[in-house]
Amino acid sequence: MKIVLATRNQKKVEEIGRVLQDASIELLSLTDFPDCPEVVEDGETFQANAEKKAREVAAFTGCHALADDSGLVVDSLQGAPGVYSARYAGADATDQANLEKVLAALGKTPASQRGARFQCVISFASPGGEVESFFGCVEGRINQTPQGNNGFGYDPVFVPQGGEVTFAEMTAQQKDALSHRGRALAAFAAGYSKPALHISSS
Ligand code: IMP
Repeated sequence: MKIVLATRNQKKVEEIGRVLQDASIELLSLTDFPDCPEVVEDGETFQANAEKKAREVAAFTGCHALADDSGLVVDSLQGAPGVYSARYAGADATDQANLEKVLAALGKTPASQRGARFQCVISFASPGGEVESFFGCVEGRINQTPQGNNGFGYDPVFVPQGGEVTFAEMTAQQKDALSHRGRALAAFAAGYSKPALHISSS
């Protein structure tokens, strides 16, 4: 079955491809559909945004679509950057600018009060508009300084619970085994084998 990933982010395509590599799925992405309009992420929750992206991309492409919406939730920042994670430091902010803003906002906050989590919602939609969502979360804390060069986004400042190194210091496989997206995708892959998920298969 063909599934279009509702993203142009190559890192995400690679990450999702690695986690779903055992499933009998042919993955496409929006780079295969250059005319697909940009989906406006104006929802107030990760789930609202993921479902909107999946529905709109499935309707445009005529294929089943898989969308993720994800972000960093920092306790001491009242849940920021949350759904604004990609644009925390401004509309076209770089990953570096976003993570520097988080570090600046936390200032000298001690490690015990730097609790945070990555959350992810994966939504799977049919061209007819049916949608089902899957959730993943990884608890951790924000490091005092960026460490490591792997991954993307806030990876250099996020230390998952029970560990000492950031996501950016891990191999891709180590991160996949722990990550919010890895967990939400595992829930999708498990559900995919159930008949209910083969919504309006064409
Ligand atoms: P979106 O899910 O594409 O809307 O973007 C979410 C934003 O959250 C990304 O641009 C990153 O800044 C951040 N983010 C989501 N997942 C991760 C991750 O696995 N590592 C680091 N940052 C992430």
